[in-house]
Amino acid sequence: MSGRILAILWMSVLVTASRAPGQEVPSQTLRLVIHADQATDTISRHIYGHFAEHLGRDIYDGFWTKANTGEWHLREDVIDALKRIQVPNLRWPGGCFADYYHWKDGIGARDQRPTMVNTMWGGVTEDNSFGTHEYLELVNRLGTEPFIVGNVGSGTVQEMSEWWEYVNHPGGSPMADLRQENGRDEPWNVSMWGVGNESWGCGGTMTPEYYADVYKRFQTFLRAYGEVRPFRVATGPNSGDYNWTEVVMREAGRNIDGLDLHYYTITGDWGRWGHATDFGEAEWFEMMNNTMQMEEFIDGHSAIMDRYDPRGRVALIVGEWGTWHQVEEGTNPGFLYQQNTLRDAMVAAWNLNLFNNHARRVRGANIAQTVNVLQAMVLTRGQEMILTPTYHVFELYTVHHDALLLPTDLDAGSYTLGEDSIPALSASASRDAGGRIHLTLANLDPNAPRTLATTVVGTAISRGSGRILTADAMNAHNTFEDPRAVEPAEFTGFTLENGLLTVLIPPKSLVVLELE
Ligand code: AHR
Repeated sequence: MSGRILAILWMSVLVTASRAPGQEVPSQTLRLVIHADQATDTISRHIYGHFAEHLGRDIYDGFWTKANTGEWHLREDVIDALKRIQVPNLRWPGGCFADYYHWKDGIGARDQRPTMVNTMWGGVTEDNSFGTHEYLELVNRLGTEPFIVGNVGSGTVQEMSEWWEYVNHPGGSPMADLRQENGRDEPWNVSMWGVGNESWGCGGTMTPEYYADVYKRFQTFLRAYGEVRPFRVATGPNSGDYNWTEVVMREAGRNIDGLDLHYYTITGDWGRWGHATDFGEAEWFEMMNNTMQMEEFIDGHSAIMDRYDPRGRVALIVGEWGTWHQVEEGTNPGFLYQQNTLRDAMVAAWNLNLFNNHARRVRGANIAQTVNVLQAMVLTRGQEMILTPTYHVFELYTVHHDALLLPTDLDAGSYTLGEDSIPALSASASRDAGGRIHLTLANLDPNAPRTLATTVVGTAISRGSGRILTADAMNAHNTFEDPRAVEPAEFTGFTLENGLLTVLIPPKSLVVLELE
């Protein structure tokens, strides 16, 4: 039985709740137990990873822009904003683009680099001004870890192994010499390395049997140089394709360090996506219901991985996830530019709680994507930049990075629309190196608050503080005209008496509590 159904079956105690000013709807009192005495797993900060593809305006206009002088440079405003959410790794150059990309086109003098047509995304000319050196400079400026995805679909074993050598060999090899000729003496020590992307689709339309063989061949030539060993990420399943995981784990699991699951949350159908800002409660509910499939996928793929890798050595990496809507009117359909509302923020909060709670196997994830593409953190218009509601979720969740997961038992209650119900609440808790407990709570119900009675087993808590992300409208979002319509605020809607924490979680909100 899935966690979703179990959660719905949990007994909810309906009481006449204390009402927040102006609230007419009685709330349900639900229960949460935090087992501070049963912590075993660390929440890898890599769950909070990001993704920058040569797609639309993610790199060009997003990270990399042209000055009036015509010189390309990194965008300082975007870098400053992203530093505040402590990006742990940045996956690049794709996505589908990775299997079209030939890295040698993106090194050396910029004005002599060959151009190509990005036939995958929008048919625009790629001038290769942003290549390996520029990416690794960006990574350095962000204080993050690189995560390079190599070309399996249209590349060769030699091409990938030379890229690996170029970025990692300490010196005295052909590729290290080339790197030094291009102005970089020291290797960058890149460990996280994707061996192809979506090899079942845009990365080569392979069967899992064929990919497993190809994967083994490519990874053989990623040799350890000095201290640097590859953390080899294999193409994982598309959503619920369990056969892919079964075959790849069986045939190549011993040579894999991370398996890359992709799942996007949509409303409507593929190709006929719902709109990012123009929706009603039916689409809100549909979005929440659809995103909850992620739990089934993580449980299903983890169960297969447990059979081939009972000790949990291979990480499940959710290398692409997030919402996918129809593009904003008047924009290139191949650029995947969409707005981002409170609904997207709730999807992010729900998934991040899920990943935290599966910290044993899920040790990496990359929301798609960082700037101007899909569920972005940041949107730009010329020199202007705004932060999205999803950005604020990532900022609020920095407290969980590398913290110790505290297992929880949650009576999630239910949110009902018509004949259908889904769990109303989601939660995760962790303890940081300073002994503080952080609790992230999401109420998916856009209409009614929930009262949550929380006890912490194994430690005494006597004080707390909180922040909240919410808004009046389901589709509230930030615009260039009103850039702070959705942003976190202080939250005081809780009491703490004799160790019992009672939280009144407003409708459609994310609450973060710090407890000591
Ligand atoms: O993130 C957009 C695209 O979605 C990626 O390029 C691809 O891997 C996935 O299908």
